[in-house]
Amino acid sequence: MSIWGDAMAELLDIHNLTAGYRDAVVIDDLSFRIGQGEAVSLLGRNGVGKSTLLATMMGLTTVSKGCLEFDGKNIGNAANYQRNRMGLGYVPQEREIFASLTVEQNMRVAARPGEWNIAAAYKLFPRLEERRNNYGNQLSGGEQQMLAMARALVGNPKLLLLDEPLEGLSPVMMDILLDAVKQLRQSGLALILVEQHAHLALEVTERVVIMDRGRIVHDGRSDLLLKDDATMHQLLGLAHEQASEKAAEPARKPDLKLAS
Ligand SMILES: Nc1ncnc2c1ncn2[C@@H]1O[C@H](COP(=O)(O)OP(=O)(O)OP(=O)(O)O)[C@@H](O)[C@H]1O
Ligand SMILES: [Mg+2]
Repeated sequence: MSIWGDAMAELLDIHNLTAGYRDAVVIDDLSFRIGQGEAVSLLGRNGVGKSTLLATMMGLTTVSKGCLEFDGKNIGNAANYQRNRMGLGYVPQEREIFASLTVEQNMRVAARPGEWNIAAAYKLFPRLEERRNNYGNQLSGGEQQMLAMARALVGNPKLLLLDEPLEGLSPVMMDILLDAVKQLRQSGLALILVEQHAHLALEVTERVVIMDRGRIVHDGRSDLLLKDDATMHQLLGLAHEQASEKAAEPARKPDLKLAS
């Protein structure tokens, strides 16, 4: 069940999951569910295990306990490529663009039949169409992030996992990426958005989960957390970032068209 009640069918169900790297436990007895079409911010201080949780969903860590169900199937023993085929789209924190392939070739190797084809990806990111014949190593950080997201989308996922897509990007690029996330959410695609830019993530998702030391310590509505400075400060230590992001808002808001 999601925070919105029974009406939303379940897409992901993680229960009592303990996972990490060899003997090092990072994810500690964690349980978490996502409904079809839910857009969830996954927040937390550095090193609490956000990337490890996404990597665990993709079968890239050592699981010592617990269960992972996706789209009604137990995927605990499925290999990474099988999870990908089953509908888990993953954009890792490192982006992992193929440097020696062009923009279009990067997408072609990941494409699978469905609503998201290369033309649709170009519509979401017109900049990529302009760069279609450029090689991966000729792209800016923002373009690489667009390509990483586009490449995951042309695989036609049911759940998109985005690990810090805004990291290291200029405000203009951040706006483009955030606008894309907003469009994906509106299209009904379920997604998990890991971000350090908490306020920006909360504006494009409906639900937020906060992790601390491998566990979930908060699960609720994004709009409520946005107004809850005390919890933001306590769980994310965001007093300074909050002030600086608020100061940046006047320049960002008109471009973003985030207000509904
Ligand atoms: N490949 C790895 N091998 C061993 N330990 C790792 C590996 N990757 C991460 N860790 C450890 O796991 C813990 C959680 O790291 P993780 O990268 O999941 O955190 P995070 O919440 O994504 O942090 P950040 O916000 O900095 O990206 C940290 O203690 C980290 O040092
Ligand atoms: Mg991380």
